Amino acid sequence: MKRALSVLAGAWILSCGVAGDAAAQAPAATGPTFTKDVAPILNKHCVSCHRPGEIGPMSFQSYETTRPWARSIKDKVVKREMPPWAADPAHSMKMGNDRSLSQAEIDTLVGWAGGGAPRGNPADLPPAPTFASGWQLGEPDFVFEQPVAWTVKPDAQEPYLYFYEKIPFSEDKFATSVEIRPSNFSVVHHSGVYIVDIPDGYTVKDGYLYDTDGKQVPPSVPMGKKATSGDGTPLAGADKIISYVPGRGYEKYPDGYAKRVPANKYVRWVMHYNPTGQPETDRSKLGLWWAKGPVRQEVLNLQAGDPVPGSGGRGLYFAQGKEVLYESDDTTGRRGKTPTIPPYVGDFKMMGITPVNEPITLYALTPHMHLRGKSMKWWVTYPDGREEVILDVPNFDFNWQIQYELATPLKIPAGSKITNVAIYDNSVNNKWNPAPEKEVYWSEQSWDEMYQPTTQFSVDSQDLTKTVKRSTSEQPRQRQ
Ligand code: HEC
Repeated sequence: MKRALSVLAGAWILSCGVAGDAAAQAPAATGPTFTKDVAPILNKHCVSCHRPGEIGPMSFQSYETTRPWARSIKDKVVKREMPPWAADPAHSMKMGNDRSLSQAEIDTLVGWAGGGAPRGNPADLPPAPTFASGWQLGEPDFVFEQPVAWTVKPDAQEPYLYFYEKIPFSEDKFATSVEIRPSNFSVVHHSGVYIVDIPDGYTVKDGYLYDTDGKQVPPSVPMGKKATSGDGTPLAGADKIISYVPGRGYEKYPDGYAKRVPANKYVRWVMHYNPTGQPETDRSKLGLWWAKGPVRQEVLNLQAGDPVPGSGGRGLYFAQGKEVLYESDDTTGRRGKTPTIPPYVGDFKMMGITPVNEPITLYALTPHMHLRGKSMKWWVTYPDGREEVILDVPNFDFNWQIQYELATPLKIPAGSKITNVAIYDNSVNNKWNPAPEKEVYWSEQSWDEMYQPTTQFSVDSQDLTKTVKRSTSEQPRQRQ
């Protein structure tokens, strides 16, 4: 999609040159016009969401549909509330998926709105960008369908819902691209697909989990176990496939890197639906594109404070400056139990330190907090003591759970550490705060809190071209 856009941008520059000659005879417009100045910005930064069938509530594809919103556009871009992008570019590394506007682009939109939002010369209008409809890479090689089609009642505040499905492969598979797509975009607030084991003696049927007495576990109760490999060691860092948030749900890894989809495990769908005022049914899909060439390294996920798998380090966690036990919940396989946040506290600070005992390559970072989440920042401390900020999100917005993807993957040498700091605002000053008078506990519900600063990385020493061969091809050889 990015490539299509830049090709179009090139075409636009060409057509502008031609249109420029034609416009020379027309009376010169004094300020920015829609066709010449505004449409290219909207095409590049806004139309991916603001077009029919997408999550933006209005379309910016034509002058007619954009014009009524001119003032609102000015307001939103000046406050930097649109496009959604909470990182401070001045204090973060360059992100490949940065969709924020430059100051010049903001000035153009402001000048256009302030100048009466003129249409301009129709000949200046750049061609509309094209978007892949449906799957981003064409048909996937394999599709998991959410095992239960869920209907959300018009006004129901749904809890998180969990559905399960056995992975139907007899050996581990590796996906170089993954995409999760709701069937009904209007009702999915966010969702994710994880790899879990189920508790001993439990079974899965039609998406639901049944306990040892054969009783169905309600879909609102998370019951998976942290997945382990054959020898019982945790699948550290490998238990998340992908999550969906509006505007994002697609990942493609560099050549030689892939996500592992392990045989004989279970896929767990975690769905968070928001009612829309009418009944809505969704059945999301997970598309996987298998590696065509050799896979050298696995793309893993790590939460701040978790040590790099296999490196033997111990993570450290602090709440309000005091070291705390950051519990791992073995029944659910989830991390992130924040200590209780007291009422009215405006700057509750959580910190996680990840020791890096062997070299890793970092690709992406995703801050995840709920309504009290205020800010989050990651930095790396190199063995020589030098510090470098990776990502600074000064105004976290719960409504936009953005994954920030480094434009250039960051090599982090052994002997470094990665520090994450999050601030929570449980005061009356936080306009999103549902109840400042309450103590805030950990849970996945948005009125409770989580501390889940996730990074995506690979371990440089891993060489799957060796380990995969050992587990898949050695056995037949022995049998001969
Ligand atoms: C990732 C998707 C996405 C992108 C990109 C995006 N928007 Fe939005 N926009 C939304 C959604 C969803 C809403 C409605 C919810 C909200 O206001 O946050 C919205 C709301 C708005 C509104 C508010 C309308 C109102 O009700 O007042 C304006 C104006 C707007 N966007 C302008 C822009 C502009 C201008 C750009 C590009 C510079 C842009 N948006 C890029 C998703 C997006």
